[in-house]
Amino acid sequence: MEAKKKSSFTGSLGFVFAAAGSAVGVGNIWRFPYLAARDGGGLFLLVYLILVLTFGFTLLTTDIALGRKTGKSAWEAFGSIRPRWAFLGKLTFFVPVIIMTYYSVIGGWILNYATAYLTGRGGTAAEDGYFTSFITSHAAPIVFMLIFLAVTAFIVYAGVEKGIEKFSSYVMPCLLVMIIGIAIYSLTLSFTDASGTTRTGMQGLAVYLIPDFSGLTLSRFMDILLDAMSQLFFSLSVSMGIMITYGSYVKKDVNLSRSISQIEFFDTGVAFLAGIMIIPAVFVFSGTDGMTSGPSLMFVSLPKVFDSMGMAGSVVGIVFFVMILFAALTSSISIMETLVDNCTHIFKVGRKKMSLIIAVLSAAASVVICLGYNVFYFECSLPNGASACQLLDIMDYISNSFMMPLISLLTAIFVGWVIKPQWITDEVELGGSRFKKKGIYCVMIRYIVPIIMAILFFKSTGVLSLLG
Ligand code: PHE
Repeated sequence: MEAKKKSSFTGSLGFVFAAAGSAVGVGNIWRFPYLAARDGGGLFLLVYLILVLTFGFTLLTTDIALGRKTGKSAWEAFGSIRPRWAFLGKLTFFVPVIIMTYYSVIGGWILNYATAYLTGRGGTAAEDGYFTSFITSHAAPIVFMLIFLAVTAFIVYAGVEKGIEKFSSYVMPCLLVMIIGIAIYSLTLSFTDASGTTRTGMQGLAVYLIPDFSGLTLSRFMDILLDAMSQLFFSLSVSMGIMITYGSYVKKDVNLSRSISQIEFFDTGVAFLAGIMIIPAVFVFSGTDGMTSGPSLMFVSLPKVFDSMGMAGSVVGIVFFVMILFAALTSSISIMETLVDNCTHIFKVGRKKMSLIIAVLSAAASVVICLGYNVFYFECSLPNGASACQLLDIMDYISNSFMMPLISLLTAIFVGWVIKPQWITDEVELGGSRFKKKGIYCVMIRYIVPIIMAILFFKSTGVLSLLG
């Protein structure tokens, strides 16, 4: 463990790639498009882009600088600066714990689709009802989830993440090229439904890009803001300790400000393109009604796109799902890695043993989440306005809409008012690096982040609606 702590990324690109490997995952390709579609496209996109440049940049800078300056992971970092704030590090630790319970469930879904295409069953995957019948079946989702989790756990157990990271630095650019190719193809689609209405990919693109302000109420805007903010946390892997740990591996001569912009650019670029790939296709095949389908969106719409490609579609389907599988794997490794890293410290247990314990516990929790679609099925509404939710949505809500705003709020108070922003900006400017957005950073961390996070926290917990 100690040896690992001392190891650092080779240069700034190594760091950017590793952080991007954690950041780019199912959040970009599965979660972003379904939220954007549910929230009407353009408006969500606009809000998200503004948030990335303001909140995303502030929170990512804070996490990475905290990690590099203290050289510690979240569990110890806060306490090592101010012992009274040690609780914040501990609170942060619970976010990856919750995410781990459902990330491998989605990994399992992707694995199932990859397998379907590999075994020539791409056509079946494109049929209506395929996704629902898959996730509601008893055994298959559990089996695929367990395989995905076992691979993740094996990599963490064997300590071969470095090899995977290298591999993913080849896979990521290929994934990007695929996404661009499929996105362009999506725009050329056109479909006439039973009622004789023809919809085209370009019309779908307009829905995605052009904000529609008609009928917008404050409450609806707040729901969109909350969705976009939760997506920002999830996608950039911020406010959950992961980027603090990554920061602790970064060498002192790396230009933090530049690396952070690169990570943000890459992560947001992939999400934006995934939107172009998925949203016009959903619009073409299912109209605006289909856009509200939530977590199933990618799994329902993409097979239809591949199906419309004819023979080529089965090959594109294989390559695409296998690549997303890798993106998901690098992210799930980073989550499990953080859990193992922290738990070896907390419980003073060896790394290998801890990996096994965490793998078994995660498997047990994920089985319960899988059963949320049959044995434990129910539908509930959440305080953030989402309806017809199952166990997976509830875990997602707890981590992204409840805990992360709370942690960001506390972190902003800690940095902005207790240790003061200069503590962070000094670290960013170390070695003479220029921190161009220093002014924005200081205003954000002291005033804007705490105020908005407090509002969002109350909104997402339903306290605001109680007050009327
Ligand atoms: N950021 C990753 C994604 O977009 C998910 C993730 C969440 C990774 C939490 C690490 C920690 O899929």
